[in-house]
Amino acid sequence: MDLKLSTLLCISLFFSTILTPTLSELCNPTDKKVLFEIKTAFNNPYILSSWKSDADCCTDWYNVECDPNTNRINSLTIFTDDRLTGQIPAQVGDLPYLETLVLRKLPNLTGPIQPSIAKLKHLKMLRLSWNGLSGSVPDFLSQLKNLTFLELNYNNFTGSVPSSLSKLPNLLALHLDRNQLTGNIPSSYGKFVGTVPDLFLSHNKLTGKIPTSFANMNFDRIDLSRNMLEGDASMIFGMNKTTQIVDLSRNMLEFDLSKVVFSTSLISLDLNHNRMTGSIPEQLTQLDNLQLFNVSYNRLCGQIPVGGKLQSFDTTSYFHNRCLCGAPLPSC
Ligand SMILES: *[C@@H]1O[C@H](CO)[C@@H](O)[C@H](O)[C@H]1NC(C)=O
Ligand SMILES: *[C@@H]1O[C@H](CO)[C@@H](O)[C@H](O)[C@H]1NC(C)=O
Ligand SMILES: *[C@@H]1O[C@H](CO)[C@@H](O)[C@H](O)[C@H]1NC(C)=O
Ligand SMILES: *[C@@H]1O[C@H](CO)[C@@H](O)[C@H](O)[C@H]1NC(C)=O
Ligand SMILES: *[C@@H]1O[C@H](CO)[C@@H](O)[C@H](O)[C@H]1NC(C)=O
Repeated sequence: MDLKLSTLLCISLFFSTILTPTLSELCNPTDKKVLFEIKTAFNNPYILSSWKSDADCCTDWYNVECDPNTNRINSLTIFTDDRLTGQIPAQVGDLPYLETLVLRKLPNLTGPIQPSIAKLKHLKMLRLSWNGLSGSVPDFLSQLKNLTFLELNYNNFTGSVPSSLSKLPNLLALHLDRNQLTGNIPSSYGKFVGTVPDLFLSHNKLTGKIPTSFANMNFDRIDLSRNMLEGDASMIFGMNKTTQIVDLSRNMLEFDLSKVVFSTSLISLDLNHNRMTGSIPEQLTQLDNLQLFNVSYNRLCGQIPVGGKLQSFDTTSYFHNRCLCGAPLPSC
C-alpha cells in the first residue's frame, strides 16, 4: 500500500473512532446536563458511575433510557442500593419527557415526594417503593393524567389517602400499602373516572367504614388488610363482579357473612381477624377457582358447607370462631 493512502486511512480511522462518537452523540445536551445535576445532588453515588461526560447517555449510561424517536430521556430507574442517600433531587422535574421514574429499594432515600414531579406530564409509571420517604401523598399526582402505575408502598408516608387520585383515568395499579396513612378511605374510590385499578391500601392506620360506593367497583384485586376498618364489607362482593383477590384481614369489620353473595371468579379470599357473624354461605361451595380461603378469628357459627373447595383448606382457615363446625373442623 502506498504511504499516502495508509496515512489517509490512519487519519480517517483516527477521526472516526475518536471524534465521531461525540459528534453523533444521541443524548440531548439539556437532558445530559440535568442528569449530571441529579448525580451531583445524590453525591456522585457509585451506582451512577456509568454517567460520564464522554459517554452517550442514550447508549452508554445505565439507569436511563432515551425515546428512540426523539432521543429524549424517557426513563430513569435506580434500585437496590443502600448507599444512595439524600432526598429525591428537584431536578428530576426537569426531564420533561420522562415516562418512567423508578426509585426503589433505596432505604436511605428520605424526605418527601419531590413537588417538581408535578411537571412530568408524560409520566406513566411512578414507582417509589421500599424507600424511607415520608410526608404526605401529594394531591398533585392526580394531575399526571397518563399515570397507569402508582406505587408508593413500603415507605413512611403519613396523612390521608388523597381522594383526587380517583381522577386518574388510566390507572391500573394504586399501591399505597405499608405506610402510616390515616383517616378514611375516600368515597371517590368507589367512582374511579376511568379504569378500575388494583387497590392496595393494606398495612396502614385507616379507620372508619369502607365507602358504600365500593358496590359500584369491580376491582380485580383489592387489599385493605391490617388497618382499623369497621362496619360492612359486603359491598365489595357481588355475583356479577369479576374480582379475583380480596384481602380484608386484620381489621374490625363487622357484618353477616351469610348474606354475602360471592362471584365465582374469586381466587383468594382472606377475611381473618375481623368481627364477622353469621355462617359460611352454601354458595361458597360453587367457587371452583378458590385457592386461598381464610375466615379464622371471627364470630362465625354453624356447619361448614360440604362441597367445592371448602374441605380442601386446613383447620387454620376456620379456627378461632364462635361455633363453626364440620370438616375440616370437628363434626358438629
Ligand atoms: C443505609 O441504610 C442501611 C439500612 O438499610 C444502613 O445499614 C446503612 O448504614 C445506610 N448507609 C448509609 C450510607 O447511610
Ligand atoms: C398520554 O398517553 C396517550 C396515549 O399513550 C398519548 O397519546 C398522550 O400524548 C399522552 N399524554 C402525555 C401528556 O404524555
Ligand atoms: C419510618 O420511621 C420510623 C421512625 O419514625 C423508622 O424507625 C422506620 O425505620 C422508618 N421506616 C422506613 C421504611 O423508613
Ligand atoms: C347480574 O347480571 C344479570 C345479567 O346481566 C342481571 O340480570 C342481574 O340483575 C345482575 N345482578 C346484580 C345483583 O346486579
Ligand atoms: C389463616 O389466618 C390465620 C390468622 O392469621 C393464620 O394463623 C392461618 O395460618 C391462616 N391459614 C391459612 C390456611 O391461610
